[in-house]
Amino acid sequence: TWQLGGHALFLSPRDVQLGRGEPIADTARVLSRYVDGIMIRTFAHAEVEELARYASVPVINGLTDLLHPCQILADLLTVKQHLGTWEGKKIAWIGDGNNMANSWINASYRLGFELVIACPPGYDPDPATVKREGGAHVKVVRDPREAARGADVVNTDVWASMGQEEEQAKREVAFEGFEVDQSLMSLANKSAIFLHCLPAHRGEEVAADVIDGPQSRVWDEAENRLHVQKALMAVLMGGEALG
Ligand code: NVA
Repeated sequence: TWQLGGHALFLSPRDVQLGRGEPIADTARVLSRYVDGIMIRTFAHAEVEELARYASVPVINGLTDLLHPCQILADLLTVKQHLGTWEGKKIAWIGDGNNMANSWINASYRLGFELVIACPPGYDPDPATVKREGGAHVKVVRDPREAARGADVVNTDVWASMGQEEEQAKREVAFEGFEVDQSLMSLANKSAIFLHCLPAHRGEEVAADVIDGPQSRVWDEAENRLHVQKALMAVLMGGEALG
């Protein structure tokens, strides 16, 4: 069903001139004449920045190699829904220091909760994002148990993100010991919840009995994408106040 009275157009590279080498700036200018907002999912983060620079309508980052802010908004809503607040909570990120990890870091700068990221060497989050000044309590560690211990939220994600599919075998070796299983979950707080932005690979980054178990909130998390994305559009395009 259509919600909020909106109507979405899905434009693949073959539907717009970007696929034929049109500069992003020109696509931004043209699309801005047609639509009220643009959500873009791409690889290079610079493309989103370029689009936003030249568009005269709101541009929403629907995922880049660097960041995945919309997903983090849904995850934060899920934390609020189940734990009441993120204030004073310990959030654990276990696995790849990827776009999700970077956006969790940005959220920690904004909101001030404790974030412990466990990743193997060579798979750290973006150094510039980690170094950002602000009120974050972010720690990068090598031992997943250190991240999980006393955590209120345990998070993971695929080991090979979109565009990294050919690295799957190499990554399975690098991420050995980083599966979120029951023994890791048992180190977290009793009331801890498990989150995963999906798609999940049971038996790789998460054990089936964790993602399908009582602490998992992944279906609420998936549903919350809908609510949060609607809220974001209402604020950016519908004149709705934040709060
Ligand atoms: N890190 C994952 C998130 C998928 C929603 C990726 O970029 O593929």
